[in-house]
Amino acid sequence: MCGIVGYVGRQDAVPVLLEGLARLEYRGYDSAGIAVVRNGTLRVHKRAGKVRDLAASMPKRLSGQVGIAHTRWATHGQPSDANAHPHVDMANRIAVVHNGMIEDSALLRERLRAEGVQFSSETDTELLAHLIAREDADDLEEAVRRALRRVHGAYGIAVLDATAPDRIVLARNGSPVLIGIGDHQMLCASDMAALVRHAQQVVHLEDGELATVTAESFSTATLDARPTVKTATTLESAASDYERGGFEHFMLKEISEQPQAIDATLRGRLDARLATARLGGLNLTARELRAFRRVHVIACGSALYAGMVGAGMLESLARIPAAAESAAEFRYRNAVIEPETLYVAVSQSGETADTLAAVEEIARKGGRVLGVVNVPGSSIARAVDGGIYLHAGPELSVASTKAFTSMTVAFALLALHLGRLRDLGPADGQRLLSALAKLPDKAAEALAAHDELKQLAAWIASAQSSFFIGRVRGYPVALEGAQKLKEVSYVHAEAYPAAELKHGPLALISPELPTVAIVPDDELLEKNLASLEQIHSRGGEVLAVAHRQLGTLADRLILVPKSEPELDPILLGLPLQLLAYYAAAALGRDIDQPRNLAKSVTVE
Ligand code: AGP
Repeated sequence: MCGIVGYVGRQDAVPVLLEGLARLEYRGYDSAGIAVVRNGTLRVHKRAGKVRDLAASMPKRLSGQVGIAHTRWATHGQPSDANAHPHVDMANRIAVVHNGMIEDSALLRERLRAEGVQFSSETDTELLAHLIAREDADDLEEAVRRALRRVHGAYGIAVLDATAPDRIVLARNGSPVLIGIGDHQMLCASDMAALVRHAQQVVHLEDGELATVTAESFSTATLDARPTVKTATTLESAASDYERGGFEHFMLKEISEQPQAIDATLRGRLDARLATARLGGLNLTARELRAFRRVHVIACGSALYAGMVGAGMLESLARIPAAAESAAEFRYRNAVIEPETLYVAVSQSGETADTLAAVEEIARKGGRVLGVVNVPGSSIARAVDGGIYLHAGPELSVASTKAFTSMTVAFALLALHLGRLRDLGPADGQRLLSALAKLPDKAAEALAAHDELKQLAAWIASAQSSFFIGRVRGYPVALEGAQKLKEVSYVHAEAYPAAELKHGPLALISPELPTVAIVPDDELLEKNLASLEQIHSRGGEVLAVAHRQLGTLADRLILVPKSEPELDPILLGLPLQLLAYYAAAALGRDIDQPRNLAKSVTVE
């Protein structure tokens, strides 16, 4: 989705901004643009298409020591040069880049039109440029403040004024804005990725805050002009975390990083003495944790499937009723918020609009929400009462892999922690601790069979459609396997609880429709094998993901190392990520940026 980057300092802003835009590409976008001020003149260059097209077409004379830039993911108006950001006022003095959506833009545009304002795009953002330019204020920040008081909606904005070329003004309401502090230079961005090369420290703006940023300093204040005090934190990620580093795609890099990601999620959290998990950020006492009667997980997409894996772990280890639900459904069904329910919001980016809205709805009604989040300081991480950071490192591929796996590991820790406060005995605690400690090595083993998976992927890629099936613990694994295949290869895949096949989908089974079956070696093995029989007897072919050979019941087999039954789902899904990756590669897909998708879905 949209991305913002800005620079003020001693260097030429243009190359810094272009590099920042390139680092934001992973979010998904359809147009890009840049604005700089030089000698009191605002110059804008923008176009539909890729950042490399923007860079290649950049006028040679375009330079300046202050500038803002943007990658746009179309919401108001189609992707076009005119609709690309930055947007300017009629006098070409004010330039604005904007993430989010101004809800009353149609009405306000009409009003301004009646007053003689001519619009040159279909966007809601252009409205902001005109509104700011029309304010008769002492300085740019005050003009932005007054303009923002006239609009309703979500925004993260950066504003440039040709008559105040030493500064950028920022504002945030519902869409992240960060200030990156460098050496005699400052950056701003909507995403850490754009800051990592030139900034050493970072400051997060809160909703309702504005900032004025110059090369040497910054100040912040609220929408009603009360100054605020901010603490800068050290940037933890390195520029190399945002690079492919020899891998053809971020997806393959991130799949391969999973042993380390699991290790990072576990680090410092295994407590052998008490046979439990140590989770410092929950901000809930043991007494409060014991008092919960239910856990309700909310999330979207793959994070939801990780939440389903997690709900299963919570139920079996902590013996607490747990369920996972789409945050988009939850937020609109006027759910009953119960004080004895622990809500858990799961999100890699921490910016998913539906998950954030659900968290806010729960908080408004007095519920307690924990976050299972990857991006530190993200909106969801800041909105929850406490939580578990994944520490999986930046995930740039649109298809979530290492964050998904780390989410399931974080749930295993939460389930162990809650379990040990309830009925789970020390022997079971130790059993899980020792299995958790072995997960990184087992994950490496599960991901080793690249050549075999390439061949299987070629087979799946040649199908029009496929089924993924699993039972209980295996079902969310099947859901996530189908999701991965769909989003990167565009091969249609549907996931079912294995027993549901005979209630309808079995009618579709044929030699042309392969089934990927999750068949762990657990108490449901016999039941799963019966499902494979049913598929075979209708002429279907089966690729089984299993812990042991299954004879003629599996036409093709992927063997995965066994863990403890409760933790098996963490490993069973790993080869399915490679299966999707190689299917997409065989079909020549744009793997890291699949069509129509964005990395973090910050709008509805
Ligand atoms: C995962 O492969 C998808 N790209 C998508 O389903 C994603 O998991 C979902 O949009 C939620 O994102 P989040 O984890 O950043 O909240």
